[in-house]
Amino acid sequence: MNRKFETNEKGHLMLGGIDTVDLAKEYGTPLYVMEENTILTAMREYKASIEKFYGGNGLICFASKAFSCKEMYRITMREGLGTDVVSGGELYTALSVGFPAEKICFHGNNKSDSELEFALKSKVGRIVVDNAEELERLSAMAAGMGIEAPVMFRIKPGVDAHTHSFVMTGQIDSKFGFALETGEAIEIIKKAVKTPNIRYVGIHCHIGSQIHELLPFTETAKIMMNFMGEVKKETGLDTEELNLGGGFGITYTDEDNRIEYPAYMEAVSEVIHELAKELGIKLPFILMEPGRSIVGEAGTTLYTVGAVKTIPNIRTYVSVDGGMFDNPRYILYGSKYDFLLANKACEPAVNKVTVAGKCCESGDLLGENVPLGDARCGDIMAVFSTGAYNYSMSSNYNRNVIPPVVFVKDGKSRVVVKPQTYEDLVRNDV
Ligand code: LLP
Repeated sequence: MNRKFETNEKGHLMLGGIDTVDLAKEYGTPLYVMEENTILTAMREYKASIEKFYGGNGLICFASKAFSCKEMYRITMREGLGTDVVSGGELYTALSVGFPAEKICFHGNNKSDSELEFALKSKVGRIVVDNAEELERLSAMAAGMGIEAPVMFRIKPGVDAHTHSFVMTGQIDSKFGFALETGEAIEIIKKAVKTPNIRYVGIHCHIGSQIHELLPFTETAKIMMNFMGEVKKETGLDTEELNLGGGFGITYTDEDNRIEYPAYMEAVSEVIHELAKELGIKLPFILMEPGRSIVGEAGTTLYTVGAVKTIPNIRTYVSVDGGMFDNPRYILYGSKYDFLLANKACEPAVNKVTVAGKCCESGDLLGENVPLGDARCGDIMAVFSTGAYNYSMSSNYNRNVIPPVVFVKDGKSRVVVKPQTYEDLVRNDV
């Protein structure tokens, strides 16, 4: 693997200036480790790019579904970013640390009444409406409160994002949003103009996730700008805000070619400027919602190796003390990762093995045919780039407890999510 990593004189993997074997000893395994500086660098790079290429006329909203916990919202807020939430629970967590409501975008294809009410009462800055029923429900609710609901509309731009079909969202056959091709997108905006207690703020799209090409993004920006032109023509309305979603790919393994964010922002900004001029429309305030690319590469999961089972002429299973309950991405998407024995980080990867989890399920694997050193019971295994959609998609399957999250920075570590206990598992049982 071409991945660069730091080691110390003992040949142990280092993260944030700390020996990972010591981290495993101190906090136990499985353990989610997040390098705080990587998160801060990504956030600052996004912000700087919007300053440099779009005159700062925009807001980066961290897509918190990638990693939602109180400390993450605190950091996001401190760095001056907004956030995207997709449930009452994420909204609650953000607000619980004083996240400014006006910098929150509330998404979801089927928000409940109580979630919509919660968002309106909390004065969330933008509610991204996904369907016609939601517009009606919001209007009635806002009327009851004597307020106007600030709404954006989720549009399906019909762009093929060349990614896994489960995380592709911009095409016509998607549960999310209003299609352009069928005319439903323009119809809903015409309807919104006439709907009481609704304030039209703008349009939103998100074409998919883990995308490694620029073209789908620039195409999307073009389509969305043209649609803004159509909105202006049909309704006379200016679209104040354009939310281009997230989806920037990261490096999981050598197969991934990460696009640098400034290149994206520069290309998209050019498209927006050109088309605004050509169509005679206002330059929109831009929102972006990166999730994975802010936290993904910051995360490494540490496990302890248990059983090593070689089935002659078939394969070797190296079992670890985690699995699909802390990382369901392999079983869901067949996602690939880089693996390393953290206590033998300088030794060559001499074997190709299957890394198995501990759940009662044959498909509970973390990787197949992965290069690894000579794994023995008690070794510490590191899996890289697990900062996004791992903790946030963890579960208590088989009543395993969800591991703690520890942030590391400049040689110091701190717990940001405590480990669950068995008592937590039975807390709501009656
Ligand atoms: N905005 C919207 C409206 C989204 O639906 C998403 C992701 C994002 C932003 C952030 O996308 P990102 O920058 O993180 O790619 N669980 C899957 C990923 C699902 C993404 C869902 N939506 C995974 O583990 O790969």
